[in-house]
Amino acid sequence: MSFTIIQGGMGVGVSSTTLANAVSRKGELGVVSGTALALTFARRLMKGAKDYVSALETFFDRHVVEKMKAKYLNKLNPDGSYKMVEMPTLKPSQDFVELMVVSTYCEVYLAKLGHLGQVGINFLEKIQMPTLYSVYGAILAGVDVILMGAGIPVRMPHVIDKLSNHEKVSLPIKVYNDTNHVELTFDPSTLNLSHIPLKRPKFFAIISSHTLANYLYKSDFGAPDAFVVEKHTAGGHNAPPRGDYLINEKGEPIYGERDEINLEAIKKVGLPFYLAGGYGNPTRYQEALAFGAEGVQVGTIFALSDESGFEPTLKKQMLKQIVEGEVDVLTDAKASPTGFPFKVANILNTMSEKDIYEQRTRICDLGYLREPYQKENGSVGYRCPSEPVEDYIKKGGKLEDTVGRKCLCNGLVSAIGLPQQRGDQKELPLITSGDEINLVRPLIKDFSYSAADVLNYIKGEATI
Ligand SMILES: Cc1cc2nc3c(=O)[nH]c(=O)nc-3n(C[C@H](O)[C@H](O)[C@H](O)COP(=O)(O)O)c2cc1C
Repeated sequence: MSFTIIQGGMGVGVSSTTLANAVSRKGELGVVSGTALALTFARRLMKGAKDYVSALETFFDRHVVEKMKAKYLNKLNPDGSYKMVEMPTLKPSQDFVELMVVSTYCEVYLAKLGHLGQVGINFLEKIQMPTLYSVYGAILAGVDVILMGAGIPVRMPHVIDKLSNHEKVSLPIKVYNDTNHVELTFDPSTLNLSHIPLKRPKFFAIISSHTLANYLYKSDFGAPDAFVVEKHTAGGHNAPPRGDYLINEKGEPIYGERDEINLEAIKKVGLPFYLAGGYGNPTRYQEALAFGAEGVQVGTIFALSDESGFEPTLKKQMLKQIVEGEVDVLTDAKASPTGFPFKVANILNTMSEKDIYEQRTRICDLGYLREPYQKENGSVGYRCPSEPVEDYIKKGGKLEDTVGRKCLCNGLVSAIGLPQQRGDQKELPLITSGDEINLVRPLIKDFSYSAADVLNYIKGEATI
């Protein structure tokens, strides 16, 4: 692998096609986020985004392109709000399958446009229902690396092998209350694209322990091609602490000695590895290389660069807060409906503010973090601890599981400038960041810096 810096996949849409494209053309690995792309793509089309329309025009099936344009292009509701888009389930409609495939294809296509560099896409293992369709869409666009964290991505090497040959695949999906898993099957031949030549991308597993590294390495489903070893200071979701799940007075999980990653043991596995979580500076980069890592994966410092997907005014506000003082980042044990700790940056007028969070009327209309559960009659329903409390309880959920939960779907989509407007209420942003957000300060000039500045800085090629 020729790159030593991976620009980490940051959802939803923070690692934008523009950011990944800028990094890849400099010879490093630019990565787009694979999370909720069906939704963001549909909303971008509703707003008439020209780059996405031109990417869509290159898709292999004319009938699908026309259908998608007819359904979404410039199709906002008369009051300017976005139309509803189907939510992920175990039985998606054929239209939604096509949307998941095509949206991921377009994201990778735009990141690869105009250069010969390598591009990756990042998925969360916890978000299972769109995975098979999205991976196929990314492979159709010639993605070079698929990365997956936030869970145990043991099936992925096999899934990628199969989809790279247009072959039928399945993935066991956890259904709460059901002792069995439900197999979600996807047969790409239903899309009639089997004549398209494909190449198998590499698979990088994002892990936080050597036990998981060994387990994945020895799996019958095939080993990953490399590991990204991520410390709990990294932005987005973090691995929960091991052993007793203790929480401090700020609501943060308490990490202890058992959570220190045994890097020597990971090195012994023998696969290439990258280090992540606070490695976005020249000292840590050199340390990682000296230790024997292939390189580093970096998120936060790219998240605030000019090319990232954060809505520009919001990004400026974040940079201003960093320049004028310190931004606190809370590792919130409760915020994410997934139950994983999730980092929330304290930014003015966002969901990190208690009043703003409490004023929001709960609604679940995007549904990427819903879990399938077995109803009393044996059929499958869907629920999310961030949905209206009474709905969650009616579905057999526990009241205590709803406390402090935030709607990551609406908050993260709002942060990239695609907020839903309901009457006079607009969904407000939720910002995630790594603990070391304030370390980007030396790079900021006139509330701005580029992805190229970040690469030069990390490699020690810039004087700040
Ligand atoms: C805004 C933001 C969003 C992120 N979202 C995701 C994500 O959706 N999936 C994921 O695996 N990692 C996510 N991450 C983690 C990054 O990919 C990367 O591993 C991490 O940021 C590295 O640590 P650093 O932030 O200290 O550089 C996110 C990080 C940030 C800052």
